[in-house]
Amino acid sequence: MRKHIVAGNWKMNKTFGEADDLLNDIMTKLESTTLDANTQLIVCPPFPYLEMTSDYSDDSYFMVGAQNVSDQEVGAYTGEVSAAMLESLEIDYCIVGHSERRAYYHETNEIVARKVDQLLKHGLKPIVCCGEVLEEREANKQFEVVKQQITEGLFHLTPEQFGEIIVAYEPVWAIGTGKTATPEQAQEMHAFIRSLIAEKYGNEVAEETSILYGGSCKPSNAKELFANKDVDGGLIGGASLKADDFIGIATAF
Ligand code: PGA
Repeated sequence: MRKHIVAGNWKMNKTFGEADDLLNDIMTKLESTTLDANTQLIVCPPFPYLEMTSDYSDDSYFMVGAQNVSDQEVGAYTGEVSAAMLESLEIDYCIVGHSERRAYYHETNEIVARKVDQLLKHGLKPIVCCGEVLEEREANKQFEVVKQQITEGLFHLTPEQFGEIIVAYEPVWAIGTGKTATPEQAQEMHAFIRSLIAEKYGNEVAEETSILYGGSCKPSNAKELFANKDVDGGLIGGASLKADDFIGIATAF
């Protein structure tokens, strides 16, 4: 049975003290919460807080992920953080190709592919984002767009490598807007993504791949989103900044 995953993407939020408070709140809340045994929580704080977050994680409660990684191995790349550095901090996951990186930092599918390669080389599991913008959905191009993102970003991998991948479908028009995809829209796209994976790597790999939904997911809508057979969890932005909401979503399975 593939894993249910709820990953919190803090984005560029929280000072050190605030991050510490949030982690404390999450831990306190988790002590009185029973998560489904198949549910994996992942917290993705900004780079400076990765180590502190790891100190809170004892692997059974939650795992730690980064929000980005360099597409280069090592050297003169000012301001970049490499997969080897994340590996040396024992970070387990990393988000790649988030729509904000694509829109503001010109991250192309080609760059996403190189970042995925770096992460796999260093033993991290990539959480790879895809999703269409509003104009693309209005023009009914969402399947074409997502297919191209998945094909160009991921389909150079071997089946074994693909087994490490988590996919996150995040319709850009739903991110931080309060607008959520309907459960039907989410299921339709998740089933489509799974069919692409099955075509390329076979049914077994496709059935094992966790596909997360992202975009204004909150405790009040998580249950109906997660009830769909191809929705295996969520990548949570705004609602991951409050312990109650984050854990509320994690218990929605
Ligand atoms: P949101 O962000 O939950 O605030 O919409 C989701 C994401 O960007 O991962």
